[in-house]
Amino acid sequence: MSWDRQINIKNPQELAVMREAGRINAEALAAVAAAIAPGVTTGELNEIAESVLKKYGAYSPFKNYPGPYPYPASICTSVNEELVHGIPGNRKLKNGDIISIDCGSVFKGYVGDAAFTMGVGEITKENKKLLEVTEKALFAGINKLKPGNFLGDVSAAVQNVVESHNLHVTREYTGHGVGRRMHEGPQVPNYGTPGKGMLLKAGMTIALEPMVLIGTNQTKVTPDEWTVVSLNGMNTAHFEHSVAITETGPVILTVLADGQNPWDFAGQSK
Ligand code: MF3
Ligand code: CO
Repeated sequence: MSWDRQINIKNPQELAVMREAGRINAEALAAVAAAIAPGVTTGELNEIAESVLKKYGAYSPFKNYPGPYPYPASICTSVNEELVHGIPGNRKLKNGDIISIDCGSVFKGYVGDAAFTMGVGEITKENKKLLEVTEKALFAGINKLKPGNFLGDVSAAVQNVVESHNLHVTREYTGHGVGRRMHEGPQVPNYGTPGKGMLLKAGMTIALEPMVLIGTNQTKVTPDEWTVVSLNGMNTAHFEHSVAITETGPVILTVLADGQNPWDFAGQSK
């Protein structure tokens, strides 16, 4: 892919700014998570994220991102069979839906990128398992983001969690380096072989994003040219964090000031 070009090692000053961008991103995601309920539209969720970013002097790198046509919103809202890049609009959420919220932030020239998937009201056991496995795969991968490990260790950790639960990772979309640009090198697939691929070094910043499907890994793009859906129409899930590799291990950048996950807080069911 065209954005798989440079791998930029960040110094501690840059990492500090990326932590701020990540914290603001987490604030936006937490505000959206709190608003998810039956009857709310995806467009309203987009407005909530935009207002939080604006409050902190940040903006979304998604808006006008080049593609088939410039991406028209600040977040992606992907409901049910929509895997990634769903466009916010008039769609009203219904009890039993699952929705992925993907949000980016640019602050002082650096990017944060993170996503979660959550149930709307009461969801089925199968959907709960889909969300739990995808989130677990994200954290299994994050734990491998250490100097001396290889990119394949990260990818394999994600793949193993997903496939051990008889679910499937996409082959067509990947995680990525993140920094001054939303998409830097390296590409980070959600499948791979331990010990293979690039050697990880302190100062690399990676957006890891498992995208998980039921039954098959096949996807297609809908007529709006952005939204990616499962080919079989089954539900899908997506979780993402931006993470710094440091000498002492992974540091998750896209968390709240107290280190809490933006999608984990009292009163919310996942
Ligand atoms: N988190 C997504 C990614 O890493 C967001 C891209 S949406 C876009 O690719 F609209 F900006 F393309
Ligand atoms: Co991303």
